[in-house]
Amino acid sequence: MAILKISRMGHPVLWQIAAPVAGPDAPDIQRLIADMKDTLADAEGVGLAAPQVYVSRAVMMFFVPPSRIETGGDGDGVPLTVLINPEVEPIGDEIVDGWEGCLSIPGLQGRVPRWAHIRYRGLDENGRPIERQASGFHARVVQHEYDHLMGVLYTERMQDMTQFGFNEELARQEAVRLK
Ligand code: NI
Repeated sequence: MAILKISRMGHPVLWQIAAPVAGPDAPDIQRLIADMKDTLADAEGVGLAAPQVYVSRAVMMFFVPPSRIETGGDGDGVPLTVLINPEVEPIGDEIVDGWEGCLSIPGLQGRVPRWAHIRYRGLDENGRPIERQASGFHARVVQHEYDHLMGVLYTERMQDMTQFGFNEELARQEAVRLK
């Protein structure tokens, strides 16, 4: 168990397509998953993909805290889920904008269009299949982490770069708007 260094935007590992995992029960993959859990908890994030710890393998994890449930989302949140070799497909063609941050782009956030409803599948950390449908923040975090495995950062998905900025500045502007 260890807290790993997180790669930041500019490092080429974040632009690579992650290689599939042959055996989820391999010791190096089990150690990677344990270390990613420690790293995610330490960074206080909601999701992490292996390229963010400099490992270009198709492993991601995420959870949905109950506080992030939005209208159309999923009941009580989603517990920490490890997904190996995931696949994601949209359900329908609805697209929604929402704010995202990324541990690899610290201090910043941007407004990103995503599929509103998706289906995803993959293997859990024990090699058992997972298949779920997701909406709201749940769908957003899965698409964000899956993009990391495809070598894509959220900034590449943005269509309006005026909706990109430092967390503190955006919070200040929001406070001004609400006055
Ligand atoms: Ni990210």
